[in-house]
Amino acid sequence: MFAKEIYMSRRERLMKKIDNGLILLLGNSEASSNYPANTYKFRQDSSFLYFFGLNEPDLAAVLDPQSGDQILFGNNVDMDDIIWMGPQPTIAEKGAQIGITHTEPFAALADCLKRAQEQGRKIHFLPPYRNHNKILLHTMLGLPVASLKEQASVELIKAIVDLRIVKEQCELEEIHKACDIGYAMHFTAMKLAKLGMVEQELAGVMEGIAHSQGAMTSFPTILSQNGETLHNHSHHQILTEGRLIVIDAGAENNMNYCSDFTRTIPSSGKFTQQQKEIYNIVAAANNLAQGMARPGLTYKDVHLASCKVLAKGLKELGLMKGDVDEAVAAGAHALFMPHGLGHNMGLDVHDMEDLGQIYVGYDDTYRPSTQFGLASLRMGKMLHAGHVLTVEPGCYFIPALIDQWKAEGTNKDFINFDALDAYRTFGGIRLEDDIVITETGCRMLGSKRLPITPEDVEKEMQG
Ligand code: GLY
Ligand code: MN
Repeated sequence: MFAKEIYMSRRERLMKKIDNGLILLLGNSEASSNYPANTYKFRQDSSFLYFFGLNEPDLAAVLDPQSGDQILFGNNVDMDDIIWMGPQPTIAEKGAQIGITHTEPFAALADCLKRAQEQGRKIHFLPPYRNHNKILLHTMLGLPVASLKEQASVELIKAIVDLRIVKEQCELEEIHKACDIGYAMHFTAMKLAKLGMVEQELAGVMEGIAHSQGAMTSFPTILSQNGETLHNHSHHQILTEGRLIVIDAGAENNMNYCSDFTRTIPSSGKFTQQQKEIYNIVAAANNLAQGMARPGLTYKDVHLASCKVLAKGLKELGLMKGDVDEAVAAGAHALFMPHGLGHNMGLDVHDMEDLGQIYVGYDDTYRPSTQFGLASLRMGKMLHAGHVLTVEPGCYFIPALIDQWKAEGTNKDFINFDALDAYRTFGGIRLEDDIVITETGCRMLGSKRLPITPEDVEKEMQG
């Protein structure tokens, strides 16, 4: 945990942003896997962690901006809990750790909310994403489960996004640690990969590093020779000659801050000429974005500039044609990169995605696009110092998508469809680093950059 003053200050700043009503913040409960007592590894809600730092299940809190009252709800353990889980701090002791003096048993939460409703006070809550909390909100507030997302408080969402999106120095230090774990995961895989191995051997070693050095992985590891499937979670292919392995993985450190890196490595330790050509274009798109990202630009500006590097490179290879600016404006490059340049990262790998991407990556001035490809850009708004983002351009050859566009004639003025026949089994390449926006530009997070040039990747794989 951070010092309690950090959590106290965050809650004070949150309460200042809400004009009236009560703020309700729910922690997470244990989630069962295959029978009730066999649970997944516990993951606390990230907003609850941000304001309260308590990494245990079955807690909730109410903040009253009018009176200044802050109440932490949770139960003291009984003898059965002590026998199975060991002694635990009391709820009053937990409150004291984070500067809260008013604590109540969990059952008192429903009464507290009922009283507020009877007084006609608004109750601000966040959109729930776990069924347990949906049922809890339904039971306590009397709202239909299906309506909870739309009844969630936009005022509270915007207030929390405002706070969490700009990382404090103490948070950057934690993200730095998560990045170093991510580095160890990827560097180890790079060293270990050999023809004949099964993908899951690499994925398992990487996930073991995440678990042994931090809390866990920041999302299920993507590791596949079929990297053209953007989020490929199947790991049972044998590494065979001439393939590319897309590895997209990251860690949560012990404070639950995240990292997220992607490297693409040749199965044999040596890129083919065709692979190296595409790889260098994607690396150039990544480098351009990192050289450009700074306050005063939107991340959509950076995304589009990066896409132009991709389109220009593909044109030089004869895969695209026509004017590069016009091609990118038309979204033609999205045949090869149907996703966005990156997303915010922090206590979630896709930071605050539970609150709604429209509030995290966009605002009243900068609205999302509906164009294929650009619509998948999770962060499009103005950059400010303290934003932590991923930079992850890619280039993929997705046979089903190529066939569809060719049959429809989609963007036929910008794509040389016949030239794509030689790339049908190519797979994909994605290269991802993590950055923080500074006052004048951006800085990469983590102690070292993972090998990025084809030469350095080959050197590590063969060395
Ligand atoms: N690293 C997975 C993603 O950004 O979606
Ligand atoms: Mn990512």
